[in-house]
This record gives sequence, structure tokens and C-alpha cells, in this order.
Amino acid sequence: MPVRSDQQLIEAAIAASHHAYMPYSNYRVGAALLTASGDVYGGCNIESVSFTPTVCAERTAIFKAVSEGQREFSCIAVVTRDAGSPCGVCRQMMYEFAPDMRVILADLDGNTQMVTSVRELLPHGFGPMNLESR
Ligand code: THU
Repeated sequence: MPVRSDQQLIEAAIAASHHAYMPYSNYRVGAALLTASGDVYGGCNIESVSFTPTVCAERTAIFKAVSEGQREFSCIAVVTRDAGSPCGVCRQMMYEFAPDMRVILADLDGNTQMVTSVRELLPHGFGPMNLESR
């Protein structure tokens, strides 16, 4: 079923959050990334006992999409218990592919707390353009 609304994207993020592997933090995160062509890639956080290999839900979704040939994204929904904001590393990775992407932050019950953009989350970001004038 094609995703037509923010609420449907949030529902996809909630579905992805059910797969979160977070035995150390107990902080469940789900993401759903909408491509320009209307496909949706879900992601969850996946932790490691040695902590640093842990990957966030947002990057899981981005890596899944990019690894399948997708590079244009229009929106990402992220769900957590407190509608928490994406970490700095994920903001940087979003900026890589989609600086103008919308970002929806919602809780695990599907209540939207904020709609923003990657540019707003990472102002004056360092991006691919910076390496174009070598
Ligand atoms: N986490 C995410 O999945 N996305 C974020 O943007 C913030 C943090 C995860 C990583 C870790 O599994 C848990 O939340 C606690 O930091």
C-alpha cells in the first residue's frame, strides 16, 4: 500500500520499532523513510554489547534504502517513547542525501510532537557540496 499521509509513515515507523534490539538502553526507536518514488524503508535501532557498533533506527533505514539503489528522500518519521530528536550522527547522514527532507518526530502511540526538516536540525551543515571545489 503506498504511503499517502504523515500518519501512515508514522505507522510504518511504529511497525519498524517492534524489531528494535535494545537490551542495553531499553530505548526503542523506529524510523520510516519515504523515497521520492513513494517507497518506504523501515529501520530500528540495533545495539551491541560493546556499545560503539550500535546503529540508530534512522541510519538503519537510510542504509537499507541506499543499498537498494534509492538516493532521493522526501520524508522520515522517527518514533520513540518521548518523540526524541535524532542524534548528530543521523542528522549528518540525512544531510548527505536529503538536506531538505521533512522530519516527523512522534511518540510510540503515533502522536506527532514536531515536524521539522534536516536543514533545521543541522544548520550550516557540512555536505557533499563542500568537496566539489577540489
Ligand atoms: N537512537 C536511535 O536509534 N536514534 C537516535 O537518533 C538516537 C538514539 C538509539 C541508539 C541506542 O540504541 C538508543 O537509541 C539509546 O541511545
